[in-house]
Amino acid sequence: MTRTNRAPESDPHSRAVAGLRDAFGAGPGGSPDPVVAVAPGRVNLVGGHTDYNDGLCLPLAVDRHVAVAARLRDDDVIRARATDFGETATFAPHDDPAGWAAYVAAVARVLREDAALPGADLAIASDVPSGAGLSSSAAIELAVGRALLGVAGRKMATTDLALACWRAEREGVGVECGILDQFAAGLCEPDAALFLDCRSREFEHVPLGGDVGILVIDTGVSHELADSGYNDRVRECREAVAALDEVADTDLQSLRDVDFDLLERHADALGDTHYRRARHVVSENERVKSAREALSAGDFDVVGDAMLAGHESLRDDYEVSCTELDAAVELAAETAGVYGARMTGGGFGGSAVALVAESALERAEREIRAAVADRVSPKADVFACRPSGGVRLVQPE
Ligand code: GLA
Repeated sequence: MTRTNRAPESDPHSRAVAGLRDAFGAGPGGSPDPVVAVAPGRVNLVGGHTDYNDGLCLPLAVDRHVAVAARLRDDDVIRARATDFGETATFAPHDDPAGWAAYVAAVARVLREDAALPGADLAIASDVPSGAGLSSSAAIELAVGRALLGVAGRKMATTDLALACWRAEREGVGVECGILDQFAAGLCEPDAALFLDCRSREFEHVPLGGDVGILVIDTGVSHELADSGYNDRVRECREAVAALDEVADTDLQSLRDVDFDLLERHADALGDTHYRRARHVVSENERVKSAREALSAGDFDVVGDAMLAGHESLRDDYEVSCTELDAAVELAAETAGVYGARMTGGGFGGSAVALVAESALERAEREIRAAVADRVSPKADVFACRPSGGVRLVQPE
């Protein structure tokens, strides 16, 4: 897939609106302005690979977005234009398109299970780098979902839309992911992280305050969840729960029900690999709890330590990092003003995220930028971002 960074010519919103007009015409006479929805990419400060284990995580949305401009049709067909790479897909409700259009079709299919949804012309534009572990796919799903509901005049709570998009990703695309990405792209608020309990699906916005900033180091190593060991990790966690459940006194549904004490007492029931996978999840949930408290108290050193410890655990126990991600985290950690860094997203490539003192942000970005090609990868990139809000409809300009 072509890797896209911030388009120099215009923002995704304007490109989506122009793309709709260019691909499908101005619409029937007197046609109203298109509905436009935007949804953000995300980073995850702490809580890697905990979501499908009913665990805890602490993502925030970044100010990189997917925009979808939409206009109603008078049949049930969807025509979707990917403006960034000039492709158009046309499909009826029961068609099964491949590639990027699979995300659009899967969201439409899940939304149509609840109530009839008319056809629509859509144009999609994005400045969320794809394959960079910033969850461009959830941003597409949420923006498409909100736009389709918008043209149909249907309302849906954002939590329900996020769950619909999560089902679309699992059923339509075949990744056994948890709810992290869709909830982050749906429910984040500007200047706050989202503390999310993936079991109860309760969440809380944790304000970041103005004293910290976020740097993303995109390693340039592409990350394709479906081809990676992601589903292997999901399976290994399930196997670890089954093995522990055989020997434990209490009923275990998921690794969320396992604490250090139980894990150590029954370590013999697990082989080395399964033991380390479980240890990562158990320790990562604890790190999310301490990072959430520290973030609320403005104690960024503690948050940074949780990020660094989380990275080590993802690297050594969970084995989802790679040399470029390790190098990015090491480079960030030795840069003045950086509290902590870790890989974000599924792993095996993609991006690292660093938490940086606001006063040091520009200098840290410059220093890291000067070193990434040598230290991380010739294709690596670094950019600062602001914590952004989740999916929303945008008023016409
Ligand atoms: C991917 C998945 C998420 C989550 C992260 C790892 O982004 O889509 O559900 O599991 O990896 O935390």
